[in-house]
Amino acid sequence: MIILSIETSCDETAISVVEAKGSAESPGFSILGNACFSQIKIHKEYGGVYPNLAKREHQKNLVPLLIEVLKESKFFKLETKDEKLPTEIEKILEREPELLRQFKEFIPTIEKPPIDMIAVTVGPGLEPTLWVGVNFAKSLSRVWNIPIEPTNHMEGHIASVLLNRSDESGIKNNESRINYPALALLISGGHTQLVLIEKPLKYKILGETRDDAAGEAYDKVARMLGLSYPGGPEISRLAKEDREKRQEANVWRLPRPMIHTDDYDFSFSGLKTAVLYRLRDAKKITNSQKKEIAREFDDAVTEVLIRKTERALRNYDIKTLIVAGGVAANPNIRESFAALKKPLSGLSVLFPTIKLSTDNSIMIAMAAFLRISSKQETVIPIAANGNLSFSNSAN
Ligand code: KG4
Ligand code: ZN
Repeated sequence: MIILSIETSCDETAISVVEAKGSAESPGFSILGNACFSQIKIHKEYGGVYPNLAKREHQKNLVPLLIEVLKESKFFKLETKDEKLPTEIEKILEREPELLRQFKEFIPTIEKPPIDMIAVTVGPGLEPTLWVGVNFAKSLSRVWNIPIEPTNHMEGHIASVLLNRSDESGIKNNESRINYPALALLISGGHTQLVLIEKPLKYKILGETRDDAAGEAYDKVARMLGLSYPGGPEISRLAKEDREKRQEANVWRLPRPMIHTDDYDFSFSGLKTAVLYRLRDAKKITNSQKKEIAREFDDAVTEVLIRKTERALRNYDIKTLIVAGGVAANPNIRESFAALKKPLSGLSVLFPTIKLSTDNSIMIAMAAFLRISSKQETVIPIAANGNLSFSNSAN
């Protein structure tokens, strides 16, 4: 099955063409085409994602990225018949005028590619930006008569571990098979969740953050330290430099919020406030102190994530742990979770490759395939839903 997948939930405009084979239990994926436009440079100025700007960028970039992936996958052919677009397209794209303009100009010139399904992220995420992707998918579906599989972004992060490749951090990810019951620790800019997966597509949220998401905390602390957006990679870089410089723990001890509480919830906003107070007390900090703070913050987040996850691993007799989402690109977090395999024998720990940790459209194609091939009826409507949660369709 050939899947065209579209992701616009935040600040990455991404489109892929993925060939999926096998079954939900044993899937195989090949990437035929992948194109992504990251808006990070644009949002850097604002210190975070500015939704209206993101929406405008998605509108501008979707058609060029589609042409790029079709060319890469060798599915790009010019249309010889003079096909007219259905008038409905004007209605579907009425709120995306720039996308409508490009759609009318280019899509009739492209021959229908051999695509079996369009997977599109419908949520969770920024609703205005999600709509751009959803309306683009609806328009393509109407013109080319291809069905749409509305896809949950977080299910995408879970599926991101299924691409069998060794990653750039040196931890081999060769056994990317999920054994059940599985546990997913989802750590991104918008979410921090521990999700029990009893069997494919059967989710139960065990706990989540009560305030800031882990990635959000990295971004906010980075901003306090004068580092650029997104803050996660900057903090982990400084933390690494500090670890290389000195062995012992530093003097800037930060709290480990909720580390001993009898639940699976998290809280990161206190950690951010603690950094703020330390900075205020210090008045002026040196570069070396910045590195110390970055390291201590990185350690504090990692320890809390590890302890809470360990509780769930033991209590639910988990066979596979999935650590996914943008923060899973963090080397300290990856190494600490990989080390859990030893004390908990029989446990496999899966990460996405570094590239597939942050938002991308390949994971959306993989999640859509799992749903389609498990023959579960789609329960998600084809409409953007910024607060979309996990919907169980397996009984
Ligand atoms: O999954 P993602 O790309 O987008 C959302 O769905 O939110 O996650 C983005 C988040 C950002 O907060 C970014 O700072 C964080 O992932 N991140 C990291 C690292 N790389 C990205 N956090 C910590 N360490 C990193 N190396
Ligand atoms: Zn994400």
